[in-house]
Amino acid sequence: MVNLQTVKSHNASLKSLGSGLVAVFVGGTSGISLSTALAFARHTTSPKIYLIGRSQSAADTAIASIKTINPSAQSTFLQSDISLLKNVDTTCTEILAKEKRLNLLFMTPGYFTLKGRDETAEGLDRKFSLHYYARMRFIANLLPLLTAAAQDSSASAGFRLSRVVTVLDPHGSVRAGGSGSLDYSDLSLKNSFSSSKCAAHATLMNDLYLEAMAQRHPLTSFVHTYPSVVSTGVMRELWFGHAFSVLLKTLFRPFMVPLEESGERHLFAATSRRFPAKAEAEEVEGDVEIGSDGIKGDGCYWVNWNDEVFPANNRLEKTRAEGGVEKVVQHTDEVFKQVCEEGKSCP
Ligand SMILES: NC(=O)c1ccc[n+]([C@@H]2O[C@H](COP(=O)([O-])OP(=O)(O)OC[C@H]3O[C@@H](n4cnc5c(N)ncnc54)[C@H](OP(=O)(O)O)[C@@H]3O)[C@@H](O)[C@H]2O)c1
Repeated sequence: MVNLQTVKSHNASLKSLGSGLVAVFVGGTSGISLSTALAFARHTTSPKIYLIGRSQSAADTAIASIKTINPSAQSTFLQSDISLLKNVDTTCTEILAKEKRLNLLFMTPGYFTLKGRDETAEGLDRKFSLHYYARMRFIANLLPLLTAAAQDSSASAGFRLSRVVTVLDPHGSVRAGGSGSLDYSDLSLKNSFSSSKCAAHATLMNDLYLEAMAQRHPLTSFVHTYPSVVSTGVMRELWFGHAFSVLLKTLFRPFMVPLEESGERHLFAATSRRFPAKAEAEEVEGDVEIGSDGIKGDGCYWVNWNDEVFPANNRLEKTRAEGGVEKVVQHTDEVFKQVCEEGKSCP
């Protein structure tokens, strides 16, 4: 476990990265993404912060908090229902028009539900889209800005932050006896949806797509984190969500990660040089973590709530060995082509 004092002193040093870091917080109106955005504002100089979500009132409150924490911060709310990939594209077009570089893409959109498949007009399940397809579409669209940040010769301190963080659960598909495997005949679960299968596919597809991105884009580092249990708005779509959250907080408080600590720990995961891009790993002085493929500093990291990387897991190794990474990328690219370029519904 990375001790909280180490996390805090690393975060306190972020001002040395210079002023004007640019970060996009998808799901930034609430919970872990907002808490991380507030920590980012607290520890950086004149940052530019984009918050993406649907709730205008939550965004207004968030922006007022950022201003109080750091009057030099510039924050912008981009209101969008990003369960539709066409809305992800529109949102990214706005960012691409305004920014020349992006240092951090941080993503948590999603919710907890017991409902079955809830299909969007694009033919994807709404929750699966938020947990996987929309997030990967943000990466695909914003990679030119992330690469530009990595190549920014004006950056100070010799460290050019260029990082993607997605918050879900790297070991979600093997937790509680899960097989860690994918149904390649129905990756989008059009015909075989269940809540547990959706959770397994979304978490494992985040893992594998990020691993491919780290190899293809070696100037950017890619991190998938598990937050543990954090008191947020994640239950709000359940009719008994509020009561359930209160019960959880009462029973499990000693085992939960406080929201502010989660924000500080996620800021560490989003900025520490322990998780370098593949191309910069050799230059890093000090500890470098083992990548998700078992190779030190390989650019993709699966990180637990306490900022330690997860140990290797045989079931996930098997899925990688059977070509899981390539199959997931091919499927995802095909969905993006059909939905975003050809305007078709996902078959
Ligand atoms: N909290 C936990 O204990 C826990 C544990 C394991 C995994 N996770 C995962 O961690 C992630 C972070 O969630 P959280 O706990 O921070 O929950 P949260 O407080 O509910 O935050 C979720 C964010 O997603 C946004 N969002 C939801 N639907 C959206 C849509 N259609 N379009 C745009 N934005 C949308 C929400 O914004 P708007 O309401 O403004 O749209 C909100 O900002 C989730 O994926 C969750 O599954 C959480």
